[in-house]
Amino acid sequence: MAPLCLPPVIGHRGAAGRAPENTLAGIRRAARLGAAWVEFDVRLSADGTPVVIHDPTLKRTTGAPGRVSTTPMETLASLDAGAWFDPQFAGETVPSLEAALGCVRELGLGANVELKPAPGRTAALVESSSRAIARAVGAGRGRLAAPPLLLSSASRVILDAARRIAPELPRGLVARRAPRDWRSAAARLGCVSLHVSASSLTHAGAREIKSAGLRLAVFTVNDPKRASVFWGWGVDSIFSDVPELLLAARRAYG
Ligand code: G3P
Ligand code: MG
Repeated sequence: MAPLCLPPVIGHRGAAGRAPENTLAGIRRAARLGAAWVEFDVRLSADGTPVVIHDPTLKRTTGAPGRVSTTPMETLASLDAGAWFDPQFAGETVPSLEAALGCVRELGLGANVELKPAPGRTAALVESSSRAIARAVGAGRGRLAAPPLLLSSASRVILDAARRIAPELPRGLVARRAPRDWRSAAARLGCVSLHVSASSLTHAGAREIKSAGLRLAVFTVNDPKRASVFWGWGVDSIFSDVPELLLAARRAYG
């Protein structure tokens, strides 16, 4: 497996400050703003389709009642996931993982696919997501390069399942704050990266993680000055809702 090269800026949930999060419009916006990679969140519909959405419930981003896990894909696909953000995005839907990866591929982006917990359905989530990834990577072979991909999760159960079910996909451990056992957990789960919240990271912590040979990614930073501090600490990648602001700072940073 070629070593994974993460970019300094990753569009968070697409480009969540500029377009509705976790939609195809958001992925396209991130590409237009210059992001080389996007991150998005994946949950399982009632009938087992991996879909791109952050919350376990539908309310905030679609206005609909109910939970993602109890709603069939056909219903999810009929919901408006754009209008809540801005009326100009009315008609954006909750995309399937496969559609999101197709979009990523067409745009030549990389993707960090964050698998959200699916209690009691971990294997189904990981199996269906890795099938969708395999289809997206395989589709149009020869026409478009396969996108670089990183699977991540805050759930160790999910990462452990991913290690068994799709060992070829690089894995990242997400944590609000690096857990005490981050070193052994990352080794046991075969993770190549640690993704921690910006508020929890210290300079010493960043040094330790980097010297353990892990990639280090930080979420979510929208202030370019703050981003420059993290890059100075050796952080590899920063998740941002406004990727163009950080990319401009990065160019200045050199
Ligand atoms: O994967 C990094 C970041 O997206 C984790 O937080 O809540 O935005 O998914 P959240
Ligand atoms: Mg996320």
